[in-house]
Amino acid sequence: MAKIIGMVTTSHVPSIGNALAKGLESSEYWAPFFDGFKPIRQWLAKNPPDLVVVFYNDHGLNFFLDAMPTFSVGAANEYVNEDEGWGIPTLPAFKGNADLSWKLIEGLIYRDFDITTCQKMKVDHAFTLALKLLWPTDTNCPVQTIPICINTVQFPLPSAKRCWSLGHAVGETIRAWDDDLNVLIVGSGGLSHQLDGERAGFINKKFDLAFMESLLSNPEWATQYSNLELVEKVGTQGIELLMWLAARAALPEKVSQVSSTYHVPISNTAGGILLLET
Ligand code: DHB
Ligand code: FE
Repeated sequence: MAKIIGMVTTSHVPSIGNALAKGLESSEYWAPFFDGFKPIRQWLAKNPPDLVVVFYNDHGLNFFLDAMPTFSVGAANEYVNEDEGWGIPTLPAFKGNADLSWKLIEGLIYRDFDITTCQKMKVDHAFTLALKLLWPTDTNCPVQTIPICINTVQFPLPSAKRCWSLGHAVGETIRAWDDDLNVLIVGSGGLSHQLDGERAGFINKKFDLAFMESLLSNPEWATQYSNLELVEKVGTQGIELLMWLAARAALPEKVSQVSSTYHVPISNTAGGILLLET
């Protein structure tokens, strides 16, 4: 049977791409963030996944405002990264597994999720950097991937409750597969940040830490909030924390924490990293 072995959730900012390319991981500015991946890489070396399912939000590379799916799933054997305009190195294409993607899509549609299926899907920094942080020394990501994109760019956004249900359906679907596969769930987004408007630079450490803690003690805690309440608490881009909620929902109820890091700021963002194992 397929087994979900754990979850890594992380914040993303494009400048991580530059920090990696320039070898700045141990610099005073970046070390508190990058050091958070050391225990995760050690854990991955002992628990290598066969497949990574990544919840992330596209920022305009693949989807634009003219056609914006709420939930979309990649169904390709390869996912290409392109220049997003941030001046960061473009990473080599990521391996997919179209057969497993279609199995996941069937399971989700069977469970009443009306998702967009993408046989071509470009992946942006939210997807690429989360994986690069896990396997920084491999030129090509060594593991097959399935991207699941959640719209957090153009309102209306799916609610926290709905993202939880999506993640739960992903978990149920994968655990029902009879393939002998170890699956890692990744969630890329958040934590609190706001890039524009009057509250640009907004960070809410108290809420971020409460949210991170809730994923262990009371994982559905954040589903009590509407998206407007969440934007108030974590900023217009902080709403990307929905990726963490969807990822956590894919895991079984009983999990244990392997490592947790919180550091402010990375660029304009509160940097959180969490590894839970099943
Ligand atoms: C930043 C954060 C993001 O989530 C993003 O997608 C782009 C930039 C930032 O803090 O610079
Ligand atoms: Fe982002």
